[in-house]
Amino acid sequence: MARHIISAKQFEKNEVLALFEKAKKLKQAFKQRKILDVARDRILTTVFLEPSTRTRLSFTYAMKRLGGVVVDFGAEEITSRAKGESFEDTMKMLDCYAPDIIVLRSKEVGAAERASKIVSCSVVNAGDGWNEHPTQALLDVYTMWEVFGKVDGLRVGVMGDLKYGRTPSSLSYLLSKFSNISIHYIAPPELQIRQDVLENIKNVEVNMHSRLEEVDVELDVLYVTRLQKERFADQQLYEALKGSYTVSTTLLSRLRKIPTIMHPLPRVDELSTEVDVLPQAKYFEQAENGVYVRAALISSLLSLNTP
Ligand code: NCD
Repeated sequence: MARHIISAKQFEKNEVLALFEKAKKLKQAFKQRKILDVARDRILTTVFLEPSTRTRLSFTYAMKRLGGVVVDFGAEEITSRAKGESFEDTMKMLDCYAPDIIVLRSKEVGAAERASKIVSCSVVNAGDGWNEHPTQALLDVYTMWEVFGKVDGLRVGVMGDLKYGRTPSSLSYLLSKFSNISIHYIAPPELQIRQDVLENIKNVEVNMHSRLEEVDVELDVLYVTRLQKERFADQQLYEALKGSYTVSTTLLSRLRKIPTIMHPLPRVDELSTEVDVLPQAKYFEQAENGVYVRAALISSLLSLNTP
């Protein structure tokens, strides 16, 4: 039976570390601009029913660098979805073309799980509404592992729209697989982390703050996220919160130590471009790591013979 990647909760620490080791090796190979020949005869289909740059392209680059084929579903408005075809029928149809992996992004919570019950190949959740984005969490934690040489014991600040964001939840679940993790959630009260996330990370030391200045320990990582404009039912609330938090060099210089700065991207107003030149800014490397980590995941799902 095909294995699906639906939630960051599903991973075990050892499996995550094995994926990281594989990603590190693939990084060395891909950095030499190599196209491997290990995924020949394999097809990955990207189905993005919500905008994406990094996730769709890094899966595409990863599969192509492994020597496989990628078929993109295309923008929703050019498909029969625009004629009213149901999600179930679309998935059944795709399955007839026999891809090996479907990478799916949807506005709807639970879409990847629903798809996994319809198709016979592996389904990878590339974001289901505000719920989860497990492969983003893999590349986020991989980047931390690369910077610090370990994940256990890290103190991570997660800042921004923690209510509607799907990366803070998946990141929290994945970090909770490691030991002695402390997470500082930094957000205006209206955007604080969801209760259901906290219920699933009982072994993590959790702290809540409304502003970065309130954090009184030296953070190892500060993970910033944007206000998820598209998920606000109340546009007035969105306008009121817009610009309410911005990470700038001035703000960072007030901290005891400047942490490694991460962001899933895209950024809007919450992370000033002046931060980009700091050696602690890792968000573009983080995005680059997406190719290696997703290639490692594809390789594991398809049992490829990678280096
Ligand atoms: C994130 C997402 O789609 O949830 N983007 C990404 O995949 N890197 C973050 C966001 O859109 O804010």
